[in-house]
Amino acid sequence: MLRQIFESRGSALLRLRLNQSRRSLTKLAYETAENDHQHFVPKMPAFDYKPPPYDGPSAAEILAKRQRHLNPCMTYLYTNPLYLVDGKMQYLFDESGRRYLDAFGCIATVSCGHCHPQVLEAILNQTKKLQHTTALYLNRPIVDFAEALASKTPGDLNVVFFTNSGTEANELALLIARLHTGSHDIISLRNGYHGNASATMAATAQRNHKYNVVQTGIHHALNPDPYRGIHGSDGPKYAKDVDEIIMYGTSGRIAGFISEAIQGVGGVYELAPGYLPEVYNSVRKVGGLCIADEVQSGFARTGSHFWGFEAQGVVPDIITLAKGIGNGVPLGAVVTTPEIAKVMTSHGYLNTFGGNPVSTTAGLAVLKVIENEKLQQNASTVGTYLKNQLLDLKEKHEIIGDVRGRGFLLGIELVTDRELKTPAPLETLHVMEQMRDMGVLIGKGGVHGNIFRITPALCFTKEDADFLVATMDYVMSKM
Ligand SMILES: Cc1ncc(COP(=O)(O)O)c(C=O)c1O
Repeated sequence: MLRQIFESRGSALLRLRLNQSRRSLTKLAYETAENDHQHFVPKMPAFDYKPPPYDGPSAAEILAKRQRHLNPCMTYLYTNPLYLVDGKMQYLFDESGRRYLDAFGCIATVSCGHCHPQVLEAILNQTKKLQHTTALYLNRPIVDFAEALASKTPGDLNVVFFTNSGTEANELALLIARLHTGSHDIISLRNGYHGNASATMAATAQRNHKYNVVQTGIHHALNPDPYRGIHGSDGPKYAKDVDEIIMYGTSGRIAGFISEAIQGVGGVYELAPGYLPEVYNSVRKVGGLCIADEVQSGFARTGSHFWGFEAQGVVPDIITLAKGIGNGVPLGAVVTTPEIAKVMTSHGYLNTFGGNPVSTTAGLAVLKVIENEKLQQNASTVGTYLKNQLLDLKEKHEIIGDVRGRGFLLGIELVTDRELKTPAPLETLHVMEQMRDMGVLIGKGGVHGNIFRITPALCFTKEDADFLVATMDYVMSKM
């Protein structure tokens, strides 16, 4: 299968120097080799777009300016940071015009494709007409998008608060839960990521995303992680931990429970089957609200469903959205029921840019593109195809400990020992670096930094999937 997309290079064989991991292979990725047994190198699918020539400052100049004026905690991927100047659908281009397959979707955010023409056109038209107005006046994009969004959410989840980010959406959701219930305690999952403000940093349970500041009222339950968790894939068994937390760690009443359906930043861990129904029952029994953080798993990314929580057969009380909702435009949302939303009327919710006409116009265009281009179906078909290919790759390469996720929310965990599941962060970096040099961008996550995150735009094709897998295979074969 993989062979089909390898291109024979005949006698002028090219050899990858993988041991030179510290050096960029951009120039020396391939060279003639007399005794190379690998006769094929992966070939990127053809694509009919060429970016205009770039005549701006060099990558080195951009990097120097960034280091001078941007905060020092802004890290970058790759030893030799990538400078991107153009993007089209599932592809990105650097300053030299070199094309990359974007299998990370700029952290699961580009849903329809970079600079998708319809999204772009909608944004441009709205920008020319009215770029900003406060929600104190009437405007059409915010109501149209709210209505469209509500048509996609189940039951009476049909009231929308707009925000600018996932952090803001989750902060608001936690506030609503606390106000609505009159309780303070929230339960979230270990290894979850929900944002970087005060309540959301508290709900986040990965040490590399937490500062040592006071974080109150949150309890982190066992992660129902089928790969490393103590109960394997037995969701209901993990759910008992939530009961125990309620029993021993709270007054017996809680404000709510928040979780992702598939933990994105944490390394694409899909909650064990049967987990959420049990937990939602327990939480509701003690007066709490159930919050589904759909920042990564929403908007058809999982393929099988439009929302990630649907795979567990539950209906939350509050849904939080961001990332893919705007295809890269800063936009977030909280969707809940009219009854729950009412609690905010005592003081209102002031958010200057929440529901901005340009952002909500983009949101509406994204929904239309997902529907018109059958992107959920594509995420399901191509995502399943890609996952199966990656599972095949796991058979071949011992370093792959696990392949998981669904649709275009896939994770590949690298381990140096399959039995012990010893994380392989250095090898992960190495493979990522080499794949970048071969034109494929993938993400990385997990507390140990040993999990690839494959979260491309939903227009990713089978040919792209083949190229990605072939590239990973090529790199791993040379390790
Ligand atoms: C599941 C989840 N929730 C919330 C957030 C926070 O979103 P933002 O970075 O837009 O604040 C993220 C960001 O990665 C996320 O993955």
